[in-house]
Amino acid sequence: TQPLRIGIAGLGTVGVGVVNLLTENRDLVAARAGRPIDIVAVNAKSRSKDRGADLSAYRWQDDAGEMAAANDIDVVVELIGGADGPAVSLARKTLAGGKGLVTANKAMVAHHGAELAELAEAHGLPLKYEAAVAGGIPVIKALGGGAAANEISSLFGILNGTSNYILSAMESNGAPFAHVLKAAQDLGYAETDPSFDIDGIDAAHKLAILASLAFGTQIAFDQVETRGIREIEAVDIERAAALGYRVRLVGEARLQDSRLLQRVHPVLVPLSHPLAKVTGSLNAVVADGNFVGRLTFEGAGAGAGPTASAVVADIIDIARGEQQPVFGVPAASLRAVSAGDHDAG
Ligand code: HSE
Repeated sequence: TQPLRIGIAGLGTVGVGVVNLLTENRDLVAARAGRPIDIVAVNAKSRSKDRGADLSAYRWQDDAGEMAAANDIDVVVELIGGADGPAVSLARKTLAGGKGLVTANKAMVAHHGAELAELAEAHGLPLKYEAAVAGGIPVIKALGGGAAANEISSLFGILNGTSNYILSAMESNGAPFAHVLKAAQDLGYAETDPSFDIDGIDAAHKLAILASLAFGTQIAFDQVETRGIREIEAVDIERAAALGYRVRLVGEARLQDSRLLQRVHPVLVPLSHPLAKVTGSLNAVVADGNFVGRLTFEGAGAGAGPTASAVVADIIDIARGEQQPVFGVPAASLRAVSAGDHDAG
């Protein structure tokens, strides 16, 4: 059997995690994929940086864009990050060049997902982004596949591991915000610009992607009403706890006729509520389907191992030849929506 040959662009926390997973679980992954997965080339900004992984067996590609044209690469794995710039130009080149694309880039999918999905679908190529939302939790596959027979009435969840880690640490030991943020950065949870985490933008990217998949609507990131946790102080968390609540950064989405309500905001959650028990860098996603009922997913939402797990799951799908519409329905038929009114209904 022919191996599936991949190029990895971006060797940060996630990129190195993918290399390590594909090395350590090589035989298991090959068995499940039906063929070996071979890393052919890698790329990052700095070649000399010590990443704690042996990369000597792979071709070093100075220009990520060249992977899109390389004859010996079948699938490009984009782990550069950022909504625009090199990530999206690589994504366009990859699909236009006839290769499949796997990405963990929620900002790019939230901003350019429709365009990229149309490109992928026009060329009959896979575009997969499981790792873009909720880290290791296979929620894209669940909403796009396992729950695909349902009308989803609402979804909500905790979609940013860094914020949840900060809130959890503040509530357990009263540590100051800045101190805990630094710890989340050291653990590899935070975005390059951590204001994306603490201002709710990262969660809004993910919510917009999930809403599109759940409701068959166009991604409307600009319409997400977004508030983060920057203003939350230890004293707020203490007072909430005294009243039997925890503070959680919650994303929620609902479709009413053609109006899509999407909101990310800090919420007081009663201690008995399932979201109150989601601690540390965990994420959770809850979706209500009209036949399946309530589905609840919980798991690691950030970090090298969980995110690599989702990236490699996508690579396995491609190796198996599985192909579905990128957002559950053909990109051209995603419904247009207007911003919902949060106070209505
Ligand atoms: N910075 C993100 C988070 C990483 O904390 O959830 C996973 O997307």
